[in-house]
Amino acid sequence: MRIYLTRHGESEYNVENRLGGDPGLTQRGREYAHALQCYCKQCDGFPTMCFTSTKKRTIETAAGMAITKIPHAELDEINAGVGEHMTYEEFAAAYPMGDRLRATEKLTYRYPSGESYIDVIERTRQLAVDTLRRGEDILIVCHRAVARALVHHFTGVAPKRVPFIDIPLHSLLVIEDGQMTSVNIDS
Ligand code: G3H
Repeated sequence: MRIYLTRHGESEYNVENRLGGDPGLTQRGREYAHALQCYCKQCDGFPTMCFTSTKKRTIETAAGMAITKIPHAELDEINAGVGEHMTYEEFAAAYPMGDRLRATEKLTYRYPSGESYIDVIERTRQLAVDTLRRGEDILIVCHRAVARALVHHFTGVAPKRVPFIDIPLHSLLVIEDGQMTSVNIDS
């Protein structure tokens, strides 16, 4: 089975370097959604099922695709707690210790009133198990921290590496038999 994994298209918060929230897509993000839709149409054997998070930016990214879409709260982005809606710079100024811990202990650092990467790994575990058990190709449109956790579940990459896995915007990852490759989609 093939798992197609992507982040949502660029959001208003991505442009402002802001955490969390429920922003919509930018024009550039909508162009990625369109490019993904075109890729999915011309790709032989592309999945007929798509999981999104419950956030607007993933739902908008998948909206144009003529496949079954199911939103899952387990796929919502890491909850940044007190940092939600702040820019990274605002968070560092308001919570300097938190900012330092995110640099040195990013896997276990839990945002006050929010989550850690370990929490995200745990919250996505059952969905990953169920997805593998279904055994059918699937497209998952989610968020950076969640995509990192899913890469752990689907490829076995060590937890300590999870918070640092490079998952750029507008890239489509394909995971098959625990191996991950990246597909270039021009938008
Ligand atoms: O908070 C959302 C970010 O996309 C997660 O990435 O943990 O590297 O800041 P980060």
